Amino acid sequence: MTAEEKDAGISMEPLFIQESGEVYRNPTEVQMSQIVMPCHANHCEELSVGQLLKWMDSTACLSAERHAGCSCITASVDDIHFEHTIGVGKVVNIIAKVNRAFTSSMEVGILVTCEDLYTGRQWNVCHAFATFVARRTEAGKVQLQQVIPRTQLEQMEYSLAAERRRMRLIHAEVITDLLSSSTAQLGECQEYQDSVPAERTRVESVELVLPPHANHQVSTFGGQIMAWMENVATIAASRLCNAHPTLRIIDMFHFRAPSHIGDRLVLKAIVNNAFKHSMEVGVCAEAYQGREPLRHINSAFMTFEVLDRDRKPCTLPRLRPEPVDGRRRYQEAIARKKIRLDRKYIISCKQTEVPLSVPWDPSNQMYLSYNNVSALKLTDTRNNWVLISEKNKVRLYTFEENHTLCIKVEMFVSVPAEQSFHLLSDLRRRKEWDRHYEECEVINQVDEDDAIYRVVTPSVSKGGKGKDFILLASRRKPCDPRDPYLIALRSVTLPTHPPTEDYTRAEVLCAGFTIWEESSAVTKFTYYNQATPGVLPYLSTDIAGLSSSFYSTFSACSRFLEANKDSQAALPPSSS
Ligand code: COA
Ligand code: ADP
Repeated sequence: MTAEEKDAGISMEPLFIQESGEVYRNPTEVQMSQIVMPCHANHCEELSVGQLLKWMDSTACLSAERHAGCSCITASVDDIHFEHTIGVGKVVNIIAKVNRAFTSSMEVGILVTCEDLYTGRQWNVCHAFATFVARRTEAGKVQLQQVIPRTQLEQMEYSLAAERRRMRLIHAEVITDLLSSSTAQLGECQEYQDSVPAERTRVESVELVLPPHANHQVSTFGGQIMAWMENVATIAASRLCNAHPTLRIIDMFHFRAPSHIGDRLVLKAIVNNAFKHSMEVGVCAEAYQGREPLRHINSAFMTFEVLDRDRKPCTLPRLRPEPVDGRRRYQEAIARKKIRLDRKYIISCKQTEVPLSVPWDPSNQMYLSYNNVSALKLTDTRNNWVLISEKNKVRLYTFEENHTLCIKVEMFVSVPAEQSFHLLSDLRRRKEWDRHYEECEVINQVDEDDAIYRVVTPSVSKGGKGKDFILLASRRKPCDPRDPYLIALRSVTLPTHPPTEDYTRAEVLCAGFTIWEESSAVTKFTYYNQATPGVLPYLSTDIAGLSSSFYSTFSACSRFLEANKDSQAALPPSSS
């Protein structure tokens, strides 16, 4: 990586030289480079986001089709945060590659950077994940071939793609639930003086889908629809502020139904709410042909800012919503803003920058759970562990980075993987093999896969205080046979369970188990624990003591699993 790439935060993977001596290149990788011309720009000489979305969609679609070997359609695009605008004359570089294929769908990672040809500088514009689906054939749904990750980065994206897919598929349902519960608590809309009536920002525009807007299969390009949606959203945003708005965030796009050449697309937008420095614009895209009823194609929410000459966000006028639907959308925009902030805070922070314990609440559960599982997956895909000791096939490894010490214990048990998973995922049973678990209770069974526990560990010194932890445990079954079973643990805070005088509140950044099926009867299981800076000096000076402590704990774990291998009691945890 050059110093400039590092400055710009562009993560380039080290070159991987294959046995043949050739430099490895991901077979699904597709690149596009475009010079931004005035015809691609808005009146402020910045690349229009709609044009960028079209380029991103075509690059990603070509990558998906390269893997699938058949025609593919855009199913969804996850939230996109635009870090910079791009001026006329700059070069936009887009790289897309398939991170993982599921049955008929694929996750494609898209990295957009901008390049100044005169200085050679490059910087990140955005990083997005899109899902493409191989078009059904007469024989039915296509079964795609698997992606085989070759490098550590590909392995990591492959593993995280399964968790992102899980979040994507529950996204709409979770957001609907959150909106109905959180808007109920918000009460009445606030009245502001000099507020702009929402009606003034309303836009309706029609587009006729012509052959250049469609692919070789006569379906409208997803990127084209996103570009049309961005166009009406920008008009609505400009009507609120009477200035040039800059698009910062697009919430997840989901293409609900296809559109074809000859469709009339009706695009409607209105400002749903304006906050101090940002506003949410909602857009709805519907299609019809002749006298047919309207088909709902897509709805999206976009966050705009207005930047001053120093690129600082300006204060925006407030909005007076329309009655009924307008008021509902106004409240929902407040709830979505909180969800977006939580998401940004929890997901985009680097693991080492996330405060140890994040307050848990239902609106950030989806992202905390994602963060919990992805942190464990990232730890699991590291390949620079150092073997510290091995005793009776229990191996202890460590890994040190940024003042944190990660510990990995690996061992094999003659117990089927699924049974091991059930036995280990009920933390209340851990005291049967781990003397550090003195007490453990379920505080909140969040859903089938996530629970919050309070765990008490005994004092290390005589008469000293014990420690207690509030842990979010997220369990996952494999998405396919190449994934492990997984139990991820991280600390959270809960207002109902503040620290007390009797215990020292302790925290876990990332811990848990990955459980791999070696055969129907043998399981490899790995335990990870990322020790916090406070315990690091103690641990690093006493590796011998650490090894023997881990060895005895995990030998006990192995005996516990084998003793319960036929037990029917290993059911998922419940709060009863
Ligand atoms: N995000 C990501 N993937 C999604 C998704 C979403 N919101 N909804 C469905 N999928 C995935 C499913 O997980 C499934 O993947 P898998 O086969 O790997 O398990 C795949 O899409 C097909 O799902 P299936 O249940 O067979 O079909 P469906 O009835 O849910 O249809 C689409 C899904 C995407 C095919 C359908 O909504 C569609 O045709 N949308 C329009 C797509 C389009 O034309 N885009 C271009 C712009 S108009
Ligand atoms: P919802 O109304 O629940 O937000 P929709 O999918 O109907 O969901 O619409 C998405 C967004 O599109 C709305 O939040 C709104 O901002 C915008 N929108 C919907 N209908 C109209 C309309 N008739 N005129 C202008 N904008 C609209």
